Amino acid sequence: MALYRAHVIVSIDSFSILKGAIEVKDTLIDKLKKYKLDQEVKVLEMSTLGQIKDVPVILIYPEKVVYAPVKVEDIDEIVEEHLLKGRLVKRLIKELPWLPKKPKLEEARIVLSNAGLIDPELIEEYIANDGYVALGKVVKEMKPDEVLEVIKNSNLLGRGGAAFPTGLKWKFTRKAKGEPKYIIANADESEPGTFKDRLILEGDPHRIIEAMVIAGYAVGSHIGYIYIRGEYALVIERIKNAINQAHNMGFIGENIFGSDFNFEIKIHKGAGAYVCGEETALIESIEGKRGEPRFRPPYPPTYGLWGKPTVVNNVETFANVPPIIRNGADWFKRFGTERCPGTKVYTILGNIKNKGLIEVPMGISLRDVINIYGDGIPGDKKFKLAQTGGTSGSIIPESMLDVPMDYASMMEAGAALGSGALLICDETNCIVDLLKPLTHFFNYESCGKCVPCRVGTTKIYKIIERISRGGGLNTDISMLEDISKTMAATSLCGLGQAAAVPVLSAIKHFRGEIETHIFDKICPLGVCKI
Ligand SMILES: Cc1cc2nc3c(=O)[nH]c(=O)nc-3n(C[C@H](O)[C@H](O)[C@H](O)COP(=O)(O)O)c2cc1C
Ligand code: SF4
Repeated sequence: MALYRAHVIVSIDSFSILKGAIEVKDTLIDKLKKYKLDQEVKVLEMSTLGQIKDVPVILIYPEKVVYAPVKVEDIDEIVEEHLLKGRLVKRLIKELPWLPKKPKLEEARIVLSNAGLIDPELIEEYIANDGYVALGKVVKEMKPDEVLEVIKNSNLLGRGGAAFPTGLKWKFTRKAKGEPKYIIANADESEPGTFKDRLILEGDPHRIIEAMVIAGYAVGSHIGYIYIRGEYALVIERIKNAINQAHNMGFIGENIFGSDFNFEIKIHKGAGAYVCGEETALIESIEGKRGEPRFRPPYPPTYGLWGKPTVVNNVETFANVPPIIRNGADWFKRFGTERCPGTKVYTILGNIKNKGLIEVPMGISLRDVINIYGDGIPGDKKFKLAQTGGTSGSIIPESMLDVPMDYASMMEAGAALGSGALLICDETNCIVDLLKPLTHFFNYESCGKCVPCRVGTTKIYKIIERISRGGGLNTDISMLEDISKTMAATSLCGLGQAAAVPVLSAIKHFRGEIETHIFDKICPLGVCKI
């Protein structure tokens, strides 16, 4: 194994690619070879390095220096000055993105504590940062019931959207009859605007492997699957590499830590359907069937993969497990709120100065996220609304900006945290125009298995589209309400049950603006082509 004296991480997300990140990376690799530094300095890719708008960004370790925006012409200077002579290129230095500019609140990194700091391709770096310590502790010192107790006491709630208590889910699976039992990591992440699981897996793949093996030990399972969104090519590569390394070191496979506990992990690549993130559709997909949700109950802890007891957890949920085991449930409960401990990883998008990814304690208000981490709305425009929780999330008006963002408080306020996507819209955004792509998305992604969702998503999209063209009927709002309520009450899975949430919450908070489109045939903001 080669040991490198420096690591250079280049952000390769779609925006950076447009701004020349690939050329920057290729030039960097060429220059390192030219100076015979390629055996000393390792170049790595990350999808994003957090909230930096001046891209391409490069981050150099061990100094933890961020340079941005970097152009191909800057590479000579960076290699010669920084990597060869050890002198910083001051004119290109940017503040570390995860330190808020106005440090009123701290970004608490539990889940992302390693992301961007360690080389995700080297198991040694994970081990050097407490990696696999939790697994060793569990296998050598704890009984499965004790592990279940710690996770239950931590009150870790599932981060995949439904906020189900993880400890309870694991207990149900352990108690359920049937062998073998399965552990599944849900890395399908096809929610538009959400890329937190991708960053966790790209930046710290061993953490998820460690958590899955711990879950296996706790519930009595010997086999796990990671269901990865097919488009996440780098994640798949890193997970494959991590599984091989963990095997070689004896953290997965037979007789883990010299015990009689065995665990294997397989990778399953998703094929791009949004509904396959729903746990039962995901299970059907692994079984080689069409990815459609099952009728429930029974739920996966009793009837999961091939009809056997199965734990399905989101990647972010799993990412919390090793630190909880290492530090204890009480340590975890120091973060966040009493009812929802820990942190939440959010993706902030839309009309906001600093777009990107943050990890903050549960309970922070959306106002603080926008003003502190997002650095406000560009052009001094006024906030109009946010959509929290992804495409099926509620529309939040200004009056709700101070609701603490944790699962329980948001639910009480009639909103949801969902996948953690926060879409920010300013006063120039039209509500009907916003609803058009959202309703189109559900119309497209409905799997068609049940009538309310299959027919309802099509009807809702057609009505919204008609309203946006000036063809709205007097009965449209009541029709939208009727269809939405029927879908929520009778759809088979969460997709149909929640598809109408944005429409219903838009009617609740912005009824006047929608009515102006319908009755006056005017888009008050001049966005819709009426
Ligand atoms: C349409 C739909 C899509 C979903 N997509 C995802 C997904 O991409 N990732 C995920 O973890 N959970 C997704 N879920 C939630 C899962 O069904 C399940 O609740 C979750 O994986 C459980 O993990 P947790 O308990 O750790 O939250 C989706 C649910 C629905 C209804
Ligand atoms: S609610 Fe929609 S996505 Fe879910 S099973 Fe029914 S048709 Fe398929």
